[in-house]
Amino acid sequence: MFICLGLSKKYSKHHTIIDPFQSSQWNNIGFENLKKTGVNYFELIEDYSELALPKLLKDGKKFDLGFIDGWHTLDHTLIDFFYINKMLSVNGIIIFDDVTYPSINKLMGYISQYPSYEVIGTVEMSYPRRELEKILTFPLKLLSLILPFSVTSRILPGHIAQKNRQFKLNTSMIALKKIKEDERSYDWFKQF
Ligand SMILES: C[S@@+](CC[C@H](N)C(=O)[O-])C[C@H]1O[C@@H](n2cnc3c(N)ncnc32)[C@H](O)[C@@H]1O
Repeated sequence: MFICLGLSKKYSKHHTIIDPFQSSQWNNIGFENLKKTGVNYFELIEDYSELALPKLLKDGKKFDLGFIDGWHTLDHTLIDFFYINKMLSVNGIIIFDDVTYPSINKLMGYISQYPSYEVIGTVEMSYPRRELEKILTFPLKLLSLILPFSVTSRILPGHIAQKNRQFKLNTSMIALKKIKEDERSYDWFKQF
């Protein structure tokens, strides 16, 4: 709803939503709320993103904004990112929610190495978690210096164990801007 309202003053606008369970599990609450606001420039694809996104790519779709907040495993989130990256225009924005999840946090360590993206915004974690982090960060950081990365990457939160960090990873949401075409070679890899 906020994305649609943010678009409201634009001349050309369209919002594509993917949710396999909007009617079966959510009783169409999001869909009905959007209709109540009078928004008519959206489409709901009631399918899994891993199936819907490749179809959108095949249909030649392009997007200016991607918001990833679906199934939160590392593999699903990477698949969402993989396809959105291919369809996102240069200067487009991609937002990841729930970056504090270990799965997504880990993935952000990888995506943070992409040369075609830069961070343009983050949203702070909720208050108690932020405070707990402040207390624990120093001892955990010490541990990460003493122990080898092969160990710390398994036992410590992603943003503490991470090396070569470009992102501020201890946030709940991250917005990245695509600053140029993704021109990585077929064997591109950076440690994360
Ligand atoms: C954390 S909720 C977020 C919903 C919405 N972004 C919001 O903030 O209200 C996660 C959503 O992902 C949907 N979901 C679950 N599996 C999915 C999949 N494989 N592909 C796309 N969406 C999925 C769920 O039905 C749910 O609506």
